[in-house]
Amino acid sequence: MKPPFVITVDGPAASGKGTVAGRLAAAYGLPMLDTGLLYRAVGVLAQRGGIDLEDALASAAIARRLTADQLADPDFRTRGAGEAASRVAVHPDVRAALKDLQVAFARQPDGAVLDGRDQGTVICPEAPAKLYVTAAPEVRADRRWKQLTAQGEAVGFAEILDDIRKRDERDGGRAAAPMRPAPDAVLLDTSEMTIEQAADAARRIVEAARARWETS
Ligand code: C5P
Repeated sequence: MKPPFVITVDGPAASGKGTVAGRLAAAYGLPMLDTGLLYRAVGVLAQRGGIDLEDALASAAIARRLTADQLADPDFRTRGAGEAASRVAVHPDVRAALKDLQVAFARQPDGAVLDGRDQGTVICPEAPAKLYVTAAPEVRADRRWKQLTAQGEAVGFAEILDDIRKRDERDGGRAAAPMRPAPDAVLLDTSEMTIEQAADAARRIVEAARARWETS
């Protein structure tokens, strides 16, 4: 049987994957899940509960109790939340606890868009359309710095670039579901692109995948 039309959008922090995923979801009328938010929520809720982020069992217990209605908290969008997310995301038990929710989201009959680090490799390896969105670390740091300063966080560009490099290393170097393009993902480097150009390029990639899916 034909799988639902699932679009996976993976890639490193501030590559533009969230924006691209949002545009694709709107274009195809599909529901979207920002899976980074799940890890951010676990990291922040663990910190609030006084849990050591290295404690895999306690972090996984938070992950198991997480519900969709908890995700609107603006604290999950801060710089500290991204760092906490990547620290809890190394634990296989945390990843396992968040897996069912993501797989269930992807199984909606009309399809879905999921963005993250391991959507095309682990969560939806059978997805008909896969993108891996990337950009040079300096470009990503500049985007993240603008976003955070607009949110009122007082932080320098050099610190953000350092964060981005460390996060790439941790996310790409971990043993459990490391950040990687799936073998059948199409790479989209947005370093020299505006948002509109990146969204158009993503749309063209997905159109080609959709044409193949329709005739499959
Ligand atoms: O995408 P975002 O920056 O919100 O992700 C925060 C962190 O959550 C990432 O750096 C990564 O460690 C983790 N993450 C993950 N797998 C996903 C999504 C996010 O490990 N599917």
